[in-house]
Amino acid sequence: MLKIFKNRFNRVMNPPSEEEYEECISDLINHKEVGSMRKFMQHGDTTTLEHSLNVSYYSYRVCKILGLDYRAAARGGLLHDFFLYDWHEGKDYKGLHGIHHPRIALKNAEKHFDLNKKEKDIIKKHMWPLTIKLPRFKESFVVLMMDNYCSIGEVMVWRKSLKRRIKLILGI
Ligand SMILES: [Fe+2]
Ligand SMILES: [Fe+2]
Repeated sequence: MLKIFKNRFNRVMNPPSEEEYEECISDLINHKEVGSMRKFMQHGDTTTLEHSLNVSYYSYRVCKILGLDYRAAARGGLLHDFFLYDWHEGKDYKGLHGIHHPRIALKNAEKHFDLNKKEKDIIKKHMWPLTIKLPRFKESFVVLMMDNYCSIGEVMVWRKSLKRRIKLILGI
């Protein structure tokens, strides 16, 4: 028990290198379609690419600390919103974006990359409980929690900067 605690403590105190994270996602981030996520807005003034990188990096860090599959978390996190459209505008399907986009993201990801079962589960279930079926892996839970964490943070930062801009314009 003490050994497990010591190992986790060491992992927290010695954060992983940026190079290791970059190695996990290098083939994905250099792909044209993944890069195209920068064209779409996600929350406030955060693009889908920025949001996906946030989720990917935080999921990687958390999985690393917990001794989980950090590579699958980094890769699944980066592709979790790979739906490739602006969800604020019109879409090809009826119904809620929150329910449908994980399936679309997975379909796009499978078209371009070879995914393992964890990466597929991460993408497909990241909107649980909206997606009903329970995530199969601990890494899927980490990514869905980091997705919520990053989304809240992105909206709050955007609101703060919006307030600042309004104050500047109004001179108050
Ligand atoms: Fe999503
Ligand atoms: Fe997301």
